[in-house]
Amino acid sequence: MIRVEKLTKEFVRKGGDGRIVRKLAVDDLSLEIKKGEIFGLLGPNGAGKTTTIRMLTMQTEKTDGKIWYDGMALEENAREIKALIGVVPQHINFDNDLTVGCNMELHGRLHHLAGAERQKRIAELLRYIELEDTVNMSPRQLSGGMKRRLLIARALIHRPKILFMDEPTVALDPQVRRRIWDLIQEMADRGVTVLLTTHYIEEAENLCHRVAIINKGRLVDIDTPESFCRRMGKIAVEWHENGVRQYRFFDTRAQGAEFAATLEAAHIRRSNLEDVFIELTGRREGL
Ligand SMILES: Nc1ncnc2c1ncn2[C@@H]1O[C@H](COP(=O)(O)OP(=O)(O)OP(=O)(O)O)[C@@H](O)[C@H]1O
Ligand SMILES: [Mg+2]
Repeated sequence: MIRVEKLTKEFVRKGGDGRIVRKLAVDDLSLEIKKGEIFGLLGPNGAGKTTTIRMLTMQTEKTDGKIWYDGMALEENAREIKALIGVVPQHINFDNDLTVGCNMELHGRLHHLAGAERQKRIAELLRYIELEDTVNMSPRQLSGGMKRRLLIARALIHRPKILFMDEPTVALDPQVRRRIWDLIQEMADRGVTVLLTTHYIEEAENLCHRVAIINKGRLVDIDTPESFCRRMGKIAVEWHENGVRQYRFFDTRAQGAEFAATLEAAHIRRSNLEDVFIELTGRREGL
């Protein structure tokens, strides 16, 4: 569905002293996303997740590399590809001077939806995200969770086949997060391909069929969450040594328990993507 080859982005700007400052935000990234897949980009702040999404969705020009959608090269097929994709941005960007309904309306017009179809679709989507009562309100009157849901509805107005979601559940409480996970799952069940970025390990574990771990603009590894954990060893034994948390991984609970018995106090649990992330990138902070 989406093929990315050697994608690179270097930002160049003038520093305070007038010298040129270069930042390699995405460095030689290659990956392939299959139809109907929920694919996660997982990485700390500044890893290059947003820049990658912005290049894939034609909001930022790439420095180098190639992108194909369904075998169509991005540059030569920009119009067709724009009709295929919906984007949920990282930062909420509604026009607060317009009502919720008018914000949706504007987006529908941008996607050339005809009047009657547009009205029907807006009503349908607002009902779908349970915000039909907010149609005449300003987006500024909505809670954070409502705004995130509205961002998703807006991105769906033209029935995209591929949905890009940049941190769809950032700063939401666990209940609202679960509600959004259900929405994403439902869309995938209907055949929409989803590419989402996240800092939340449990989000990637719960939702994503495959995860690409990226760090400092580079791809570290791609695999399914289960396979990542299996590769580490399914069982983690965790203990403290001089106040520092230590880990070891084992294939079976019995092996873990045998090792834990040699320690004064230890905690045996299933390994998770956070363990994988720390093993692969050597960092915990910023996730
Ligand atoms: N317009 C820009 N000009 C210069 N540098 C930029 C620009 N946009 C992003 N960067 C830099 O590129 C790197 C990657 O940023 P990006 O926003 O893609 O990261 P991210 O993984 O989305 O991080 P976060 O989790 O904080 O959203 C960062 O070092 C950032 O400072
Ligand atoms: Mg980002």
